[in-house]
Amino acid sequence: MASSYCSTFKPIVTLALLVIFVGSTNAQLSTNFYANSCPNLESIVEPVVKAAIKQEARMGASLLRLHFHDCFVNGCDGSILLDDTSTFTGEKNAAPNKNSVRGFDVVDNIKAAVEKKCPGVVSCADILAVTAKISVYSLGGPSWSVKFGRRDSTTASQAAANTSIPPPTSSLSQLQQSFSAKGLNTPELVALSGAHTIGQARCTSFRGRIYNDTNIDSSFAKTRQSNCPSATGSGDNNLAPLDLQTPTTFDNNYYKNLINKRGLLHSDQQLYNGGSTDSQVTTYGNNPSTFSSAFASAMIKMGDISPLTGSNGEIRKNCRKKN
Ligand code: HEM
Ligand SMILES: *[C@@H]1O[C@H](CO)[C@@H](O)[C@H](O)[C@H]1NC(C)=O
Ligand SMILES: *[C@@H]1O[C@H](CO)[C@@H](O)[C@H](O)[C@H]1NC(C)=O
Repeated sequence: MASSYCSTFKPIVTLALLVIFVGSTNAQLSTNFYANSCPNLESIVEPVVKAAIKQEARMGASLLRLHFHDCFVNGCDGSILLDDTSTFTGEKNAAPNKNSVRGFDVVDNIKAAVEKKCPGVVSCADILAVTAKISVYSLGGPSWSVKFGRRDSTTASQAAANTSIPPPTSSLSQLQQSFSAKGLNTPELVALSGAHTIGQARCTSFRGRIYNDTNIDSSFAKTRQSNCPSATGSGDNNLAPLDLQTPTTFDNNYYKNLINKRGLLHSDQQLYNGGSTDSQVTTYGNNPSTFSSAFASAMIKMGDISPLTGSNGEIRKNCRKKN
């Protein structure tokens, strides 16, 4: 009797414990978190994002990237938005961010619009999460149900920003390690990398690839070399589109480029270089809707990275500084 009890219920108990455990890492994030306190949040944010994209289409890419760089550094806690001061070092000047991340003025405008309607209620971390989604669908990509309830940090870490955000020189195994450290698996790495179907990169981020890599289409390399001199320090900030065809449309061209050896970053081409991720790149290159749904799911998972919830952290009044 005892043994049959065990064999019948042990899997159920195990499953229940697993559900409780997995759920507890982000138990308080939910899609209806602002249902009472700020029910129109998304319709407050959307016009501000759309206006910014109308003024400069690249801004959608820049805003999406802010959420990634926020989440990978001690969780999605708005830490990337804190300004440096004479007594405080934030993340804006960390190696992956300096002269690169942008869109902070737009975030200020969004926060101002939200504060006007829902004062003191919506965190800057949640604003980044919903802004990322609105940016993606505004450029033709998928939409998804954003989970809310993140709170804002009162601290930031330049050291963690330096080490947690992978550099464009990364190998496949380094990318896998960096994502796995944040609880994201290899299929999620490949899906999230599809974000590089929009936006721009600086010459300094792809110089090594276009001059030294051999797994690159030669005419593509030549084209990129024409606006990115080989000498370090010259033309470092010259821009090139991450997706050469449609850098302001969120489509699956990123994967088609990889298949044609036209990934702009060394790290991009690592996903299609004769290794274990090739088949997933091929699938996404051939099936835009498979990519869209994988990207949406992976964005929800990225948005779940170590949030501050409950009474941890705060709801910043101004995203640039702690209260
Ligand atoms: C897989 C590892 C990744 C690496 C190594 C990487 C690296 C980079 C680099 C070097 C740039 C160009 C920065 C510059 O030169 O100024 C860039 C741009 C960008 N990244 Fe990533 N990234 C990765 C993953 C992601 C993810 C997961 C997302 C979002 C989900 C993302 C979104 C973007 C966007 C949208 C841009 C263009 C930004 C703009 O035009 O302002 N990246 N990334
Ligand atoms: C982060 O990287 C930058 C640029 O390489 C460097 O100047 C800075 O000292 C680093 N900060 C920390 C805390 O490691
Ligand atoms: C290419 O590789 C060589 C040899 O490692 C190195 O000296 C050179 O600086 C590299 N060039 C670029 C543009 O990265």
